[in-house]
Amino acid sequence: MSVWLPVLLALLISALGGLYLLGVFRRRRHKEPPLDKGLIPWLGYALDFRKNTSEFLQKMQRKYGDIFTVQLGGHYFTFVMDPLSYGSIVKEARSKLDFNHFAKQLVAKVFGYHSLENDHKILEAGNKHLMGDGLVAMTQAMMENLQNLMLHSIGMVESQEWQYDGLFHYSYNIVFRAGYLSLFGNETVERNKAKAQEFDRVHSEELFNEFRKYDSLFPRLAYGVLPPKDKLEAERLKKLFWNMVSVKKTIQKDNISQWIFEQHRIRQEQGMAEYMQDRYMFLLLWASQGNTGPASFWLLLFLMKHPEAMKAVKEEVEKVLKETNQEVKPGGPLINLTRDMLMKTPILDSAVEESLRLTSAPVLIRAIIQDMDFKMADGREYALRKGDRLAMFPYYALHMDPEVHPEPHQFKYNRFLSPDGAKKVDFYKNGRKVKYFTMPWGAGTSICPGRFFATNELKQFVFLMLAYFDFELVNAEKDIPPIDKSRWGFGIMQPTHDVQFRYRIRF
Ligand code: HEM
Repeated sequence: MSVWLPVLLALLISALGGLYLLGVFRRRRHKEPPLDKGLIPWLGYALDFRKNTSEFLQKMQRKYGDIFTVQLGGHYFTFVMDPLSYGSIVKEARSKLDFNHFAKQLVAKVFGYHSLENDHKILEAGNKHLMGDGLVAMTQAMMENLQNLMLHSIGMVESQEWQYDGLFHYSYNIVFRAGYLSLFGNETVERNKAKAQEFDRVHSEELFNEFRKYDSLFPRLAYGVLPPKDKLEAERLKKLFWNMVSVKKTIQKDNISQWIFEQHRIRQEQGMAEYMQDRYMFLLLWASQGNTGPASFWLLLFLMKHPEAMKAVKEEVEKVLKETNQEVKPGGPLINLTRDMLMKTPILDSAVEESLRLTSAPVLIRAIIQDMDFKMADGREYALRKGDRLAMFPYYALHMDPEVHPEPHQFKYNRFLSPDGAKKVDFYKNGRKVKYFTMPWGAGTSICPGRFFATNELKQFVFLMLAYFDFELVNAEKDIPPIDKSRWGFGIMQPTHDVQFRYRIRF
């Protein structure tokens, strides 16, 4: 007996440990939000959540109200569905609610990047290049790259004939490639500029095609549910990108953006191995290029489906061109669209914000670092548990709230315009002003540092389309395609299928 006792004890302890990990012993404590572990041990509601995040959270909100805790794949997530309470999350000290904790695990899994202790500080140090003078330079670079990709065939006979393409493919392709070239640099000119530009066109196309393959695997990769064949493909693609945007290749380019260069320089100074920096470059490629292309598609599509919006934006574009004495004409110089000009387009700004409201759906997550109290906007107080995660899903909780945004499913291009033509910032819920009335960029410490550049990219693309091209949907009667529900939580949504359109240079 004495021999078996330790063995039995060990078995009992490991069985109890296993049950603990499966969440069997977890109970709702005093003051904690309603807890629903789901019926499947450990997995909890992971399958429902992944199948349709928005629908699942709606169901839970109906059942439990504005705050509840659910088990998802062994982790406990507390969702806050009241946008008036978002300020308390966003402003909470990092010692209590931390963005990095979760992000570090995700980037190791998805990009193979193992971050430095002070990684987020390094990122923040370089983010000044995405604002102010840095932004002016990047906007100029974006303009030149868009012109190279969109207008290189100007004057040739074939460019005056209708070209057919999927609008999603076309927009994503152009904006991805121009954005990539503006951040990661151009082929060195040496003697022949035309050759260098052609190289940029070919090389960026190749990168885009590979990126789209990775993009389609991404949600399942992040959830860790790729079948073996796709896992191998994801590994192949990762290695390909580590090579294609490697530090060695990037620093040989002309016009590399200060933002990218600074991220490399500081990591180099800190002694990070070059192969790890290559992985970081891939992470930056993903962060900077994964959303802007899909966002430009939705913006253009909403404008094409709403003639009154298209007319208003077109008139604004013409007005801005006129004010700067520029005209698009055969044989004339290409227009120079500056950051100053892009600051005089309140109608286009509102259309951009409206289109992001309808299609951006990130899940914003904070790790709960210590047991803490959380006060909702209406005064209710809850206890949050160390080791759990706090999450927001502004798409459903805010963007689609009919009280904050009446007729939330409708595209209203002037929703963010005041009667006097200025940006509208007054939105209300329960009679209280909603500070964060849209959250396409996240908020607080992890707010997207590229938001100003991204907005400019979208505006520049639409501006050039309107100034230089005739374009129309092949089947104008067809409905706007539904969004692909497998991508909830990952930023800008994508359509389930493409929409055919045609375009040609206007002269
Ligand atoms: C329409 C385009 C874009 C959208 C909707 C978007 C959205 C977001 C969101 C929601 C986050 C925060 C994620 C979180 O809190 O969990 C984020 C982070 C980030 N974005 Fe963007 N983004 C866009 C374009 C860009 C561009 C163009 C760049 C770079 C030039 C960029 C660079 C980054 C970086 C580096 C982060 C990580 C920030 C951090 O860790 O603190 N993004 N983006």
